[in-house]
Amino acid sequence: MARILVTGGCGFIGSNFVRMLLAERPDWEVVNLDKLTYAGRLENLADVAGDPRYRLVKGDICDPGVVREAMAGCRMAVNFAAETHVDRSLLGAGHFIDTDMKGVLVLLEEARRVGIERFVQISTDEVYGSIAEGSFDEGCVLNPRNPYAASKAGGDRLAFAYWATYGVPVVITRASNNYGPYQYPEKLIPLFATNALRDESLPLYGDGRNVRDWLHVSDHCRAVLFVLENGSNGEVYNIAGGNERENIAITREVLRLLGKPEKLIRPVDDRVGHDRRYSLDASKLGRLGWAPRVVFEAGLADTVRWYAENEAWWRPIKDHDGEFRRYYEEQYGARLK
Ligand code: NAD
Ligand code: TYD
Repeated sequence: MARILVTGGCGFIGSNFVRMLLAERPDWEVVNLDKLTYAGRLENLADVAGDPRYRLVKGDICDPGVVREAMAGCRMAVNFAAETHVDRSLLGAGHFIDTDMKGVLVLLEEARRVGIERFVQISTDEVYGSIAEGSFDEGCVLNPRNPYAASKAGGDRLAFAYWATYGVPVVITRASNNYGPYQYPEKLIPLFATNALRDESLPLYGDGRNVRDWLHVSDHCRAVLFVLENGSNGEVYNIAGGNERENIAITREVLRLLGKPEKLIRPVDDRVGHDRRYSLDASKLGRLGWAPRVVFEAGLADTVRWYAENEAWWRPIKDHDGEFRRYYEEQYGARLK
């Protein structure tokens, strides 16, 4: 049995990754260290909670004692734990600095102490900033432009520093925007799908023409496992879906899939410092042998159907979680008046 630490495993991507590992690596044990913030949901892994190869440690990656306990006996670690929502980082960045930078330091220190064999730091395409034309490759200068992106860039480079300085076997991934099941309904696709299902307004920022590259979460999880097993120490790997779309196009497609009218679209004041376009050159990972499999149109249709069929997952968050309602009012209250 090989033991792997996955942090943030109760979040969107982490829970999809833990489920995939338990299914595809029958001789691995998975320790999931998660603080269970608003975004960490026990229900995301309810179907595997009883698996004898799975253990949840509830705790903070910023706490060295907790990290020591969770990493004990682990040969590998993948750090998904993070504060992840750009809009929240614009309302207050303190937790982002704590988890996305200081928490990474605590994990790296422990990885160094125990002599971990592989440490994957999950970074993001947002560390490169916005690009008008062409695509960023791994050699491009980092130019993060919002507090979330800046804190992720800090964690990204700190991980590299632990390889360069101490030889901790670090690999760093930078993926584009993910979509799929179990994504907290504050991000574009789940927010708009669930609002549309209730005939509520879809608050589209600015002119709606910002571009994101969409990657299905299952493709992202396969790519992370691929670099965990095949990546080279100290290297960065971009992970792209190859599906660049304007937000307005995504919005219209979500409405079309649900049979809802476009009059639900509500143009609202733009996000401050809103990055115009993200675009990745992922040919480095392609040369190693990884490619995305999910066709975007089919993946989006499946995803929207998942939210339609799983109201029992998102309704409690939107209706009964005071945290979500407080955030929604702060973020959208004045915009939607
Ligand atoms: P998410 O917000 O859905 O989940 C984050 C998880 O981390 C939650 O379970 C939360 O409880 C946990 N967490 C937060 N702070 C913690 C702490 N201090 N200690 C322990 N656990 C903590 O996030 P996600 O969308 O699944 O993103 C996962 C990772 O992937 C993040 O590192 C993010 O930066 C990166 N990423 C996300 C995307 C995307 O489109 N969602 C794209 C590229 C990279
Ligand atoms: P988001 O899902 O927050 O991801 P990120 O900011 O990390 O790319 O947003 C995706 C795009 O959708 C981004 O250009 C902002 C836009 N957006 C809206 O127009 N309205 C919204 O309510 C949200 C949450 C996002």
